Amino acid sequence: GKGEYDHFMLKEIHEQPTSLAQAIEGRIDTRNDRIALSDFEPGTFDDVESVQFVACGTSYHAALYGSLGLNQAGVRSTALLANEYSVSAPPVDDDTLVIAVTQSGETADTLNALRQATAEGARTLTVTNVVGSTAAREADDALFIRAGPEIGVAATKTFSSQAVMLTLLCQRIAADRQGEPPADLESLLPAVESMPSALDEVLDSSDAAAIARQYDDSQSYFFIGRGLGFPVALEGALKFKEITYEHAEGFASGELKHGPLALVTPDTPVFAIFTGQEDEKTLKNAEEAQTRGAPVVAVCPDEHAAVAVADEHLAIPDTNAKLAGLLANVQLQLVSYHAADLLDRPIDKPRNLAKSVTVE
Ligand code: F6R
Repeated sequence: GKGEYDHFMLKEIHEQPTSLAQAIEGRIDTRNDRIALSDFEPGTFDDVESVQFVACGTSYHAALYGSLGLNQAGVRSTALLANEYSVSAPPVDDDTLVIAVTQSGETADTLNALRQATAEGARTLTVTNVVGSTAAREADDALFIRAGPEIGVAATKTFSSQAVMLTLLCQRIAADRQGEPPADLESLLPAVESMPSALDEVLDSSDAAAIARQYDDSQSYFFIGRGLGFPVALEGALKFKEITYEHAEGFASGELKHGPLALVTPDTPVFAIFTGQEDEKTLKNAEEAQTRGAPVVAVCPDEHAAVAVADEHLAIPDTNAKLAGLLANVQLQLVSYHAADLLDRPIDKPRNLAKSVTVE
């Protein structure tokens, strides 16, 4: 049941320190810095030339998070919407690893892409929450995120676990492929181990309810981020529209000036996500929106330069740049939750949506 919580979504948001601890349990070997993920034998990914991620919805945002991280670690990769794969998949061969990211393991679009990749000779792997799911049975390999059942239609804890497990997986792929661990692996692994306590900190002291109230009569909600903050901006907007039924959009922060700025007014709060990847540029983009009257909510650590500029601040603990966006995402989950609660929406079962989309 929901226990002390009004909704499963809020319960599942608060489960994240535990579900993430479960995900990483026994999988990180800090003594042997070649091994960022003990599920796979050393050398498993030696001959992977490039990686294609396929996924839908929130899982696509986790896939994009993984793909950007893999590119930053020096391995060619791309994140593709599974429902577009049949019309526009880039060519694959047996050095291509196709990773299907799917919480349920039953999403028809994602299974179709997985099957197409298999038929074309790619090697496949799935990152999923459900042992025994179709994706787990059909892919060559599976990495389970161990998040436990998620009842709320809006994915929360499973996104966080997917993104962290993909971050570890991508470090492993890069290490195997390049014959040596990526440069910052030594600092990343302890930061991953501290994630459960960092998540606790966010959940214990979040101002998200007050921020949701402050902007509850806005016309539209924008989310911007750069680098690993970009998939978090997309996810922040998806969650917001899904459960509040209000208009929300996520952008790469540098894209605002290429069109979306035309929509910016005092009625369009901009949530700016700072992850430590070219933050000065994101701050400049946020200020461009602020100049047009938009209130800016900075999601960043207390000591960050954005705090002095922004109208409001949602605090996250200082951490590795590969993980900061995931702490920011939890603040945004809470903003969406409280905004939907103020509007009295059926948070766990938004209209027109199903937990598992088994049709094309
Ligand atoms: C949004 C959400 C959906 C799913 C998508 C893929 O909160 O839950 O966007 O992420 O339908 O589902 P899975 O991950 O089961 O393939």
